[in-house]
Amino acid sequence: MMFFGGDYNPEQWDEAVWKEDDALMRRARVNLATVGVFSWALLEPEEGRYDFAWLDAHLDRLHANDVSVNLATPTASPPPWFTLAHPDAMPVTQDGVRHVHGSRDTYCLASPAYRTAARNIARALAERYGEHPAVAMWHVHNEYTTLCWCDHTAAAFRDWLRERHGSLEALNEAWGTAFWSQRYGSWEQVLPPRATHWHQNPGQHLDFRRFWSDLVLAAFREQRDAIREHSDRPVTTNMMLPGYQNLDLWALGREVDLIAIDHYPDAPGLDAAADTAFAADRARSFAGGRPWLLMEQGTNTVYDGDRILGKEPGDILRHTIGHIARGSEGALFFQWRQSRAGAETWHSAMVPHAGADSRVFREVAAVGEAVERLGEVAGSTVTAQVAVLHDADAWWALEVDGLPSADLDYHGSLRRAHRALWDAGVTVDFAHPEHDLSRYRFVVAPALFLLSDAGAENLRRYVSGGGTLLVQHFTGFVDEYLHARLGGYPAAPLREALGIRVEEYRPLRRGEHIVLSDGSRATAWSELLRTEGAETVLTYTHGMLTGRPALTRHRFGQGEAWYLSTGLDDRGHAALITRILGIGREPSGVESVTRHSTDGRSWQFLLNHTATAISLPESAHDLLTGAPVSELPPGGCAVLRNSL
Ligand code: GAL
Repeated sequence: MMFFGGDYNPEQWDEAVWKEDDALMRRARVNLATVGVFSWALLEPEEGRYDFAWLDAHLDRLHANDVSVNLATPTASPPPWFTLAHPDAMPVTQDGVRHVHGSRDTYCLASPAYRTAARNIARALAERYGEHPAVAMWHVHNEYTTLCWCDHTAAAFRDWLRERHGSLEALNEAWGTAFWSQRYGSWEQVLPPRATHWHQNPGQHLDFRRFWSDLVLAAFREQRDAIREHSDRPVTTNMMLPGYQNLDLWALGREVDLIAIDHYPDAPGLDAAADTAFAADRARSFAGGRPWLLMEQGTNTVYDGDRILGKEPGDILRHTIGHIARGSEGALFFQWRQSRAGAETWHSAMVPHAGADSRVFREVAAVGEAVERLGEVAGSTVTAQVAVLHDADAWWALEVDGLPSADLDYHGSLRRAHRALWDAGVTVDFAHPEHDLSRYRFVVAPALFLLSDAGAENLRRYVSGGGTLLVQHFTGFVDEYLHARLGGYPAAPLREALGIRVEEYRPLRRGEHIVLSDGSRATAWSELLRTEGAETVLTYTHGMLTGRPALTRHRFGQGEAWYLSTGLDDRGHAALITRILGIGREPSGVESVTRHSTDGRSWQFLLNHTATAISLPESAHDLLTGAPVSELPPGGCAVLRNSL
């Protein structure tokens, strides 16, 4: 069975609406509702006094209507009584401003009072509903996002640093405090990276991000374990990709029973489809290849800077199928019924303000029917032969002050690499630089400014074992402490695999374009490098770099390693990736992904992103409609079962 449904907040409505909800959920084939995400003030109206009667009634009603429940712990939005009783549990910004209630996500994960309150409400819910027949899974918290720089945080950060570095001496060494007279003489002097005068210490920034990620994991585990004492249903929390949450999502992925993500594209049209694949491929990768779940999407929501754009007719199906194609076990939305009051009154929903007699609800109901027909696909997986490397340390390292260029965009670089592969019709996994990469025929490292010794060694091993690696500029320039690699970049084992040595980095001026020897254009960055075994494929044609290598290729062991020392524009970059992969053809505009089951069955998901109809090689049975299909209309989707 595939899941279909969304966040359900019946506490915003009355009985007449609940009755209509029951009928409309049946019509839309809803089988999973996420309940209670922001219900703390109702569930615990005062400290220690619980009111479950209303939730009992809704769970029983949903169950009677064949809708399972993804039961949330409401800890992302503590009620006003909590704030007033525990003002020290409110988050403090980097500038020292303490937030109060009136929105959501106002809590400090390092505050003992908050942690206790969160654990208590999670336990109380699990005690009451752990065995409830409606409960299919648990949704801990909501998108752990809040960062805090308060005194509780400072104390917890010091404990974490003691554990990580062992001694103050080691901390001073790691953070390079010999520079700018930052040497710490006692632990009490160490603070979280609060607002300061000029460049912040980079090591302090990076360690703070790592610390925060560990703190989130600890807070999640506490609730998860409290739930597990009373329930055997899977426990998850929803991730928001790619950079909204300051978390090591690989690590979070190891803690949850099921990876769940929320996805709201940030541009319309083809970009939204590419962004869907980007999010979905990351989700599958964090899940270690296992199926995962799209926990939230919008029926009509594309965030575009300072506005919310509507989706085009057909987008709800295309985005839903885009996620399921890449391993999601269904599609849920935020939210079932559009709120008539409150901060997200204008956020889209499955049932809009206009009600069931609306384009949106009709599309939702049709998508629900289509998803229901995909039941046999559940549990099947997607395999990829190409990986893009992602590491939270490398991301956070590119955020520090004092880097040589403002054009170094971590997620932008990953997105670009993924997009070039997506445009070429290649299914992509994400992998960590220290993962076993041997099953991939091609690996792209777009932005590993920070690369650990183990990571550099692993990449060397991957190439020598027969892999093809593309490394992009400014990679492996620092170790896990953000200390520069001396004697030439990148880290020695990677240098050996690449057969090059970078001597000097030369960022380009804002807006400056340079031209390489084949006429391709590049921006942002250039490097003076010399080959040490690699062949030069392209050279620079400007200034002191004229005639020097810009793109190199090195046969090493059984494999080969490419190094691109500049920011090729999108076209050149995409052409390079397809050239390395040996794919000559123009992109067809039809996205095709296959899910395989262990018993040998497979399903081909097709999405036509072009404005013209595409004929299929032969007529086939389309699971989405239950009818034969021989042609995909513009924007059309199909799911074909491949025979054994
Ligand atoms: C998500 C969040 C939902 C809702 C949604 C709006 O990040 O989990 O509660 O706010 O965004 O797009």
